[in-house]
Amino acid sequence: MKDLASFHRVHMAQLPTPIEPLYRLSLKLKGPTIWIKRDDRTGLAGGGNKARKLEYLVAEALKQKSDLLITAGGAQSNHCRQTAAAAVRNRLGCDLVLGGSPPAIANGNLLLDELLGAELHWTAPENRSQAMEELAEKRRRQGRRPYVIPIGGSNRLGALAYAVAMQETLNQLSQMDVDPDAIVFATSSGGTQAGLAVGARIFGYYGRLLGISIDRTDSGPQPFRSELAALANDLASLLQLQETFQPQDFEINTDYLGEGYGRMGKPERDAIRLLAREEAVILDPVYTGRAMAGLLDMIDKGVFSRKQNVLFWHTGGAPAVFAYAEEFLKTE
Ligand SMILES: Cc1ncc(COP(=O)(O)O)c(C=O)c1O
Repeated sequence: MKDLASFHRVHMAQLPTPIEPLYRLSLKLKGPTIWIKRDDRTGLAGGGNKARKLEYLVAEALKQKSDLLITAGGAQSNHCRQTAAAAVRNRLGCDLVLGGSPPAIANGNLLLDELLGAELHWTAPENRSQAMEELAEKRRRQGRRPYVIPIGGSNRLGALAYAVAMQETLNQLSQMDVDPDAIVFATSSGGTQAGLAVGARIFGYYGRLLGISIDRTDSGPQPFRSELAALANDLASLLQLQETFQPQDFEINTDYLGEGYGRMGKPERDAIRLLAREEAVILDPVYTGRAMAGLLDMIDKGVFSRKQNVLFWHTGGAPAVFAYAEEFLKTE
């Protein structure tokens, strides 16, 4: 197997991120002891899981002598905001293809995209990948050398970052003498989950790796767990790791898709308020608020016992709360 430390990365994230106990929340819930991995504190203009992925993706872009990053996401994409920040840090241009149409006033991540100087291109959400390719072609004709990063940064280089993050976390946990029964996190484009799974195999984590699905189901022509397995196998081959992954190796919970992607409902709102008021931890309306709402519901249903330890991996997203100010006013 290749040494994980041998892969090029551009150091941008503030690592290692801390692991903290959420004692007040744990006490209130009378459930398992809950710990939190603070990837909301990776930096890069507001924190989040994409800072880790971008270290490897930008290193590859620089290796290819690119002068421009192109990526895509929703209007409140954390991935787009951190890509714009990574571009600034490396003196690269940045084109962001955003799904939907521009709001009257930019707020949250979108405001940060503008402050960071990214060029914004709006398109129908289902057209984003194609629009990125067309834009890349246009930029090449203009003499630029674009590097296209897939939505969510979830290719094998992005996933590699989370195999490395698993190593970091297991080292921290062993020093703390904590062995979580489950690691719970928001999962969407899959790079985080696939990387964690590969890291768990390499470094020996045997508890549950439970992805709370934000917007993906395991049915239809592209079952999510098949995609996760394909991505993990792709990373395994990059690492020359003699391991294979099957869809059934991945645990996802699709019970909390709520009102759809980007739509904050009562469960997310309540979870965000609870974490803010018990622990002064700010979750986001799209990803971590939903994942925490799922975890809270599972604790309520007795899925975890009081003797168990659960690590909630905070993957970031807090800048988006400002774009949901009106939604937070709703009380029902
Ligand atoms: C805050 C936050 N959490 C979780 C995720 C999901 O991570 P992944 O796309 O690697 O599944 C994202 C990415 O879209 C995110 O922005």
